[in-house]
Amino acid sequence: MAEHSPWFYLTTPIYYVNDIPHIGHAYTTVAADVLARTRRLMGEPVFFLTGTDEHGQKVWQSAERHGLAPQLYVDRILPRFRELWERLAVSNDDFVRTTQPRHVQGVREVLSLLREKGDIYEGSYEGWYCLPDERFWTDKDVVEGLCPECRRPVERISETNYFFRMGRYQDWLVSHYEAHPETIRPESRLNEVMGFLRKPLGDLCISRPKSRVPWGIELPFAPDYVTYVWFDALLNYITVPRSTGSSPEEGMARLWPGTHVIGKDILTTHAVYWPILLRALDLPPPRLIFAHGWWTVDGQKMSKSRGNVVDPVALLDTFGTDATRYFLLREGQFGQDVDFSREALVNRINRDLANDLGNLLSRVTAMALRFFPEGGIPRPEGGERREVEEEALQLLPEVRERTVGFEFHRALAVLWEFVAFLNRTVDIRAPWVLARDPEKSAELSEVLYDLLEGIRLVALHLAPFLPETADKILEALDCPGTGTLSYASHGGFGVVAAYTVRPGAALFPRRDASGAILSEETEKSTRKPPKESSSPSKGETAPATPPAGDSASASPPSAASPEVPVLTYEEFQKLRLATGIIREAVPVPKSKKLLKLSVDIGEAMPRTVVAGIAGSYPPESLVGKSVVVVTNLAPATLMGVTSQGMLLAATVSDGVSLLTPDRDAPPGAGIR
Ligand code: MSP
Repeated sequence: MAEHSPWFYLTTPIYYVNDIPHIGHAYTTVAADVLARTRRLMGEPVFFLTGTDEHGQKVWQSAERHGLAPQLYVDRILPRFRELWERLAVSNDDFVRTTQPRHVQGVREVLSLLREKGDIYEGSYEGWYCLPDERFWTDKDVVEGLCPECRRPVERISETNYFFRMGRYQDWLVSHYEAHPETIRPESRLNEVMGFLRKPLGDLCISRPKSRVPWGIELPFAPDYVTYVWFDALLNYITVPRSTGSSPEEGMARLWPGTHVIGKDILTTHAVYWPILLRALDLPPPRLIFAHGWWTVDGQKMSKSRGNVVDPVALLDTFGTDATRYFLLREGQFGQDVDFSREALVNRINRDLANDLGNLLSRVTAMALRFFPEGGIPRPEGGERREVEEEALQLLPEVRERTVGFEFHRALAVLWEFVAFLNRTVDIRAPWVLARDPEKSAELSEVLYDLLEGIRLVALHLAPFLPETADKILEALDCPGTGTLSYASHGGFGVVAAYTVRPGAALFPRRDASGAILSEETEKSTRKPPKESSSPSKGETAPATPPAGDSASASPPSAASPEVPVLTYEEFQKLRLATGIIREAVPVPKSKKLLKLSVDIGEAMPRTVVAGIAGSYPPESLVGKSVVVVTNLAPATLMGVTSQGMLLAATVSDGVSLLTPDRDAPPGAGIR
């Protein structure tokens, strides 16, 4: 039936409202959002659904604990989810609540239909019940009185209930997955499902007596019972399409089959119960189920009892929408578990967002404004493809492909390769040098156009991940915002006829280790440009770390004098110093004072450090020398070379004298 529908119907799990949202909920929803936004940019009609799972024993018990009627309780929790999605810029097209009449009615219709078909029967049940998971288990499943899924104690239960003939469809499901293994991702999850299907499937108990669980959808044929919460919840994926069309059939034909993004803990319900239920209703199985991994915190499972649950609202309060979204999807491979740490988050923000992306935009727009104050940097005439275009064609299609393949971290890594390429292009082509030669004005205009066009394409590909940032970038380039974009109309190189840029606000402020924004004061004082007399970097606004020896004054400052700030111990502790060994030293072209050093500080790659010591040390004399490096200074670009640290040196009468450890110290030894 709907196999050929052009619609991309995408769902997240519907979240239990027995508690407030945590980072795991945000993860699933943001990932789905990136997918939905990418598909929209691809020109596909998208229907993106999320919502809340409001029935069941756990929700009912939470309501009891709060002394509230269940409906009132869920109504009170609901805004926490809705507001979170708004703050995370989640672009869902619909929001389903399982207490909505459209859903309740749909579930009752399905129940009646299955009852009429003979797929639901009444039987008696005696066995083990896991309350937190709301699932029944057999003697075989339960080991040492614990739930095989969540390892919490189970209780013995005996009651009359209604059962869904799940076992009937087991062989069909196995052959379905044999024929369509690509419908469960990642591949390892399919093995898990097939393993589960090796054992005979029991029938599924789909009711709960109201005497035990009074909060749920009443069975149309047995008013003393409510529907099992999972049976109720899974059906949201079709009750919504049924309610959005001109008729249930039309709605289903348009949207179904859907793509489900879920966490690995709810794979069995989605990959076994759900397709079987659909089969019983003569509906095709889902197009795809992708089960992602879990977030741990500093290597530990996230749990309330450990008190280490990461609150997405607190992250948003501190870091904002886009930095939070970026971290969620950049940090780990979707499908694998991933670890949360504040340090990793701050590093990502400072390195990837503030330095790589933020500096690129500020450098290029500042140069465009300076060298073309009237604007109008035209598209260069015809000719051969230039390198920025080549690189864009090479890298950017992969960003889309990786995203639709759920490889979000790879997509972002590839996009950042392009950002790094653009930063290198600035360094290599040095527009500020071209600007000094009137004969090079065409080349200057061409380089800046290419860089701006490259940045525009970064914004386009960034739009699904960081929508606010993409809009800020496009605004600085005076281009239409993300709402009007598509890959087809905006994905080519040379789309913009001429650029007139606007001074843009900084995209991401740098943060200290605690996550606090580094104040402008601190930023300015650490990013003073070098006193290079031949400094060509007027149009360059990239922060410039003072090279060693550059900022020291001849007479030692006195801590008592009012202009010398006094540091608190906490402030001093933020400074990271380490020993390093200089591996390479070369002059920075066109500079009398600067040397470009490659300094091994015990990391995977040596750091590039630009130091103003050429007057005191011939480059070859430095190789193999031990030095002291400030390692957590914001990178700065000096004469087109980005410096990732600073060497300590004393000012002496004839220049500078590098500080060096008094005994052998390995590279990377911390200094206290
Ligand atoms: N209500 C059911 C889903 C019904 S869908 C028809 C449910 N809700 S839930 O609120 O408990 O969880 C929903 C999602 O959050 C799941 O996809 C789950 O994997 C995810 N996460 C819960 N904890 C998580 C982490 N620590 N890390 C990542 N995601 C995790 O299950």
